[in-house]
Amino acid sequence: MIKHFFSAITGNLLSLVGTVLVVVSLLLIAMLLVMQAMGFEGGAYLGILTFVIFPMLFLLGLALIPLGLWWRKRRDARLAAQGKEIGHLPIIDLNQESTRGVLVTFVALAIPVLALAAGLTFKAVHYMDSTEFCGMACHKVMQPEYTAFQRSPHARVGCAGCHIGPGAQWFVKAKISGSWQLIAVAFDLYPRPIPTPVHSLRPANGTCEQCHWPTKFIGQRLKVRTHFADDEQNTEQKTALMVKIGGQQDGKSHGIHWHVDPNHMLRYLADPTREKIYEIELTDKTEGSKKLFKIDEAAPAGLEWRTMDCVDCHNRPSHIYNSAPFEVDLAISEGRIDRTLPFIKREGVRILTETQYPSHDAARAGISAAVKAFYAKNYPDLAASPAVEQAGKALGDAYAWNNFPQMKVVWNTYPNHIGHQNSPGCFRCHDNKHKTDTGEKIGKKCGTCHNIVAEEESDSKVLQELGLQEAPSEPAAAEPAADATAATTADAAPATGT
Ligand code: HEC
Ligand code: HEC
Ligand code: HEC
Ligand code: HEC
Ligand code: HEC
Repeated sequence: MIKHFFSAITGNLLSLVGTVLVVVSLLLIAMLLVMQAMGFEGGAYLGILTFVIFPMLFLLGLALIPLGLWWRKRRDARLAAQGKEIGHLPIIDLNQESTRGVLVTFVALAIPVLALAAGLTFKAVHYMDSTEFCGMACHKVMQPEYTAFQRSPHARVGCAGCHIGPGAQWFVKAKISGSWQLIAVAFDLYPRPIPTPVHSLRPANGTCEQCHWPTKFIGQRLKVRTHFADDEQNTEQKTALMVKIGGQQDGKSHGIHWHVDPNHMLRYLADPTREKIYEIELTDKTEGSKKLFKIDEAAPAGLEWRTMDCVDCHNRPSHIYNSAPFEVDLAISEGRIDRTLPFIKREGVRILTETQYPSHDAARAGISAAVKAFYAKNYPDLAASPAVEQAGKALGDAYAWNNFPQMKVVWNTYPNHIGHQNSPGCFRCHDNKHKTDTGEKIGKKCGTCHNIVAEEESDSKVLQELGLQEAPSEPAAAEPAADATAATTADAAPATGT
């Protein structure tokens, strides 16, 4: 029986090749798996071989065997009908010089061709991990993410650093979902905007924590936000927060990063957007205790529990979309918009948010025209000034960095969870409404997370003490105090949409 089976699957050239492929690829996969089980990492390439290339050869072999059997059956029937002899395999007679010549040439040609094919496959797969490929090959689709990424603190971290991370398993997952995405792009099947959160995102311990250390003690950080008021002078105002980021110190976790202490496991039950949180379960391994916080409303059936990690707060480490007021403040403080233009803050925000444009070109033209129209009507002397022209351009940039009409991405399509300014963020849980049975709440006291040192102040002793403003008696200095530069630049990267 076994002998018969063996002779069947090797009895013709096609099935023979198939059988060899199946056996060799299985052996190689087994060998690589043993190597990996013994701790040999080998990087992504090993993963491609183990999980992509060899299995593909295996499947090819499997398909060839029955194909060969079928072909042989048909040929046998035909030969039998013609009364010819039935032979299955060509006879290779190595005693003949011409056969030897053909064989040597064949092998000599096959080796470089195979090497080239393997090299090309490796290169292609490697290229598919590069930021250019992620950002540009699907240019139209990924343009929002790519644009925001280039302005972010992670602009030098490749897409794969956060979306794939090291190791074979996630690499293969990414390639499989990537293949589907390519099909979706080719046939225009993708959703607009691309939905967030990313439910298949790799847990942060395989990505963020390759570079950041979760229990690092960061302590308190002074964050200074510069805003400009809606008045004619665009009065500068500063808000200074001492943010209690914390971390681990003396074996205990403090502050905001208390959340990521491996001893505190937080799981929550939320709707698919993760905006509405019904239940939160806190397991404290140091105390060995467990608490469940709930809102009054019962959760609908079928929701998923999620273990909280970095991206539940830092959901925009790279694709940071800002609000219109934030962009106008930033442009004024960076000097891209002339602060002396009357009402430019108020008008800038109005013009940026009032109209939705069908394309970036239309937006730039429309925004420039709207800025000119405002000054032509109210300040005719200024209408033709370069400052107005320049403001129109800077506002056009701000629009194009955050709005992508073809992907239906507009201001605030993607909420940022790091604070509680434009979306509930921390207040999804810290709202006094999530309670335990004994009435314990997840608190909203401002001092839990930050001390507000100054709020929208233009002229105060605190700002002077922080070195953010000169004392009134001193003559106006050309250079701001050294501390002030440090404090403001520490914050210059627009980490949050305000
Ligand atoms: C610093 C880490 C990081 C880098 C680098 C990064 N991403 Fe992301 N990306 C994320 C996180 C985190 C999310 C998910 C946010 C969520 O689930 O709430 C995300 C979400 C996305 C989404 C879903 C839509 C959205 O905005 O939520 C797309 C598409 C995307 N990323 C593409 C890219 C591309 C393309 C690149 C490279 C140009 C890239 N990412 C680089 C962290 C990163
Ligand atoms: C390949 C390394 C790498 C990975 C992966 C990475 N980061 Fe970073 N991250 C950095 C570096 C480097 C900086 C400092 C950038 C700077 O100072 O401009 C940084 C800065 C930050 C900051 C401070 C940003 C600011 O406004 O100054 C946060 C928050 C952060 N990362 C969160 C994350 C999160 C969340 C993830 C995972 C989704 C992540 N990082 C993944 C390297 C990485
Ligand atoms: C509970 C929410 C929360 C979680 C979870 C969280 N962070 Fe943070 N993290 C913050 C806040 C808030 C800040 C202050 C940033 C700000 O004000 O812009 C911060 C700041 C940071 C910074 C900048 C520190 C600096 O020197 O200024 C880094 C880096 C960072 N987080 C990395 C991480 C990483 C990595 C993880 C996951 C292991 C993580 N965070 C988890 C809320 C969180
Ligand atoms: C998924 C729900 C959830 C989210 C989102 C969340 N927290 Fe919390 N947070 C909790 C819970 C639960 C506790 C523990 C409350 C307790 O022990 O009574 C907590 C505790 C804290 C504490 C006190 C830690 C200590 O030392 O005891 C700080 C500070 C804090 N959170 C900051 C933040 C900040 C900042 C954000 C937003 C960037 C945030 N949290 C987002 C659920 C959440
Ligand atoms: C659960 C933690 C938490 C609580 C409670 C909290 N905040 Fe915040 N708040 C944050 C975080 C995180 C940020 C973002 C810091 C940043 O932008 O870097 C923030 C930002 C702010 C800002 C700065 C806005 C700007 O100009 O950028 C103000 C003002 C503020 N909070 C006021 C308050 C007040 C008032 C309360 C009390 C009702 C409060 N917060 C309670 C976490 C909290």
